[in-house]
Amino acid sequence: MNNDRVLIFETTLRDGEQAPGASMNITEKIRIAHQLARLKVDIIEAGFPVSSPAQFEAVQRIAQEVDGPVVAALARTVEADIDAAGEALRTGDKTRIHTFVGTSDIHLKAKFGSDRYGKSLADKREYVLKMVDRSVRQACSITDDVEFSAEDAGRTGIDFLVDVINVAVEAGATTINIPDTTGYCVPKEYATLFKTVQNRCKQIENVVLSVHCHDDLGLAVANSLAGVLAGARQVECTINGIGERAGNASLEEVVMALHVRGSLFGTQTKIETRLLASTSKMVSIATGFPVPPNKAVVGANAFSHEAGIHQHGVLKSRDTYEIMRAEDVGQDPEAIRLGRHSGRHGLFSRLEKLGIFVGAERKEEIYKEFVELADLKKEIFDEDLVALAQGHRGDSAIVHYRLDHLSVNCGTGRIPRAEVLLYHGSSDTSCRKTAEGDGPVAAIYKAIDMAAGSHHGLVSYAIRSVGEGKDAMGEVTVLISEHGTLFRGIARHTDVLQASANAYVLALNQLESFRASSGEEFVSDGIMQSFGSNGGQE
Ligand code: KIV
Ligand code: ZN
Repeated sequence: MNNDRVLIFETTLRDGEQAPGASMNITEKIRIAHQLARLKVDIIEAGFPVSSPAQFEAVQRIAQEVDGPVVAALARTVEADIDAAGEALRTGDKTRIHTFVGTSDIHLKAKFGSDRYGKSLADKREYVLKMVDRSVRQACSITDDVEFSAEDAGRTGIDFLVDVINVAVEAGATTINIPDTTGYCVPKEYATLFKTVQNRCKQIENVVLSVHCHDDLGLAVANSLAGVLAGARQVECTINGIGERAGNASLEEVVMALHVRGSLFGTQTKIETRLLASTSKMVSIATGFPVPPNKAVVGANAFSHEAGIHQHGVLKSRDTYEIMRAEDVGQDPEAIRLGRHSGRHGLFSRLEKLGIFVGAERKEEIYKEFVELADLKKEIFDEDLVALAQGHRGDSAIVHYRLDHLSVNCGTGRIPRAEVLLYHGSSDTSCRKTAEGDGPVAAIYKAIDMAAGSHHGLVSYAIRSVGEGKDAMGEVTVLISEHGTLFRGIARHTDVLQASANAYVLALNQLESFRASSGEEFVSDGIMQSFGSNGGQE
């Protein structure tokens, strides 16, 4: 490979989705994967197949349906994981198995605590070396593109890290990832780690070295860039920096730093930077994680100038206060605003920018709804469009419940009361219930629970305005939980009570789909505590 090229390994669909509450359904994942292919990422990490049937299906379908990038599947250094990853990738064209094991003393003690892995730490290390050798060889028997990650490398003693990497390279790994799993490192020491690995490991020049940084100290991007300066040629990152805890390195920040400071790094990526803003928006809508206005590169304020002196300077010459152009990252200040006078072309080309390609048969229906909404609202925002298009998809997993009617009675001095009519898909019956609550939303949720015949823990309820002005849509995000697993529903409506009810029903549908796919049985050997976690070995 050209030594100036930095590969972008995109893990929004795996590490990104591990952010609590960020789970996406299969349709959203496939749409995002297609967008990542248009963005020209080199590798899409599509999921962790052994962890659930839903993850398995996501990897399988992305490997089958998405052209361009290599599709990677995550697996622990466990035979069953690698088999599942291999099977999910079987029908794909360009595929990679990414296998990992914890290597720091903290991980060894926690995950290999039992004496069956060896009594002393030295014995446990020997055990892990054998595991790495075995599983990298197993993965190499399935595909010739194998990545090995030494999880928690940032806190792993350098001697053992060198031993593990030597074993992985000798066994045939083609990419070696050195993750700062806990976001503990600072740039100087992370760079030193790469230099030391290059100096001490055998045949290291034959593999691609990779950075994978978490943002616990806000250093994920800085550490990733330090790794590149020290010789790494693959960056693992996510759109909007979403991921476990404080998240991963943000793709758009890493890519634009490499782009804007190209002569300093002496490297290139293949990324179509003009698609960064729309990709960011798409992931934000799919996960329900808003992009902060001051977010670098893709935030709404990233290119707006408030102070008079700045405005004056920018009007004279943009480069006085701007290091990159808004257009280069797809933040087009002149972008056409959609409203009641917009035509079909404007509507569908905007949807396509957001990765939504509508078939000819549904176009008229969506356009009609768009015109109706445009009559209610002055300006239509991207979120409105996605909500419209999603309302027509009819593919949001299995519909177990559908809310056919909602009425709410509340006001000063009255006890809020809600009436719902809930359709049950499984029995093709409907149930009408009325309930009172402390507030209108509490009354609605109680009535829905009664009509569904069950009760779940409500973890959080959040409402925000999408768009501006009095006619903005209310977007409600609801998280419910069962046995520690979270289910999310997001809905937008000009009536916030309707949005609240719809979001709750969506979350219930997610929960029912999860039960129907009986994910817990799939990980029958008790390997995973809950989906989306990195998982221990015990
Ligand atoms: O943070 C981490 O170490 C990971 C590994 C699975 C690469 O996500
Ligand atoms: Zn990670």
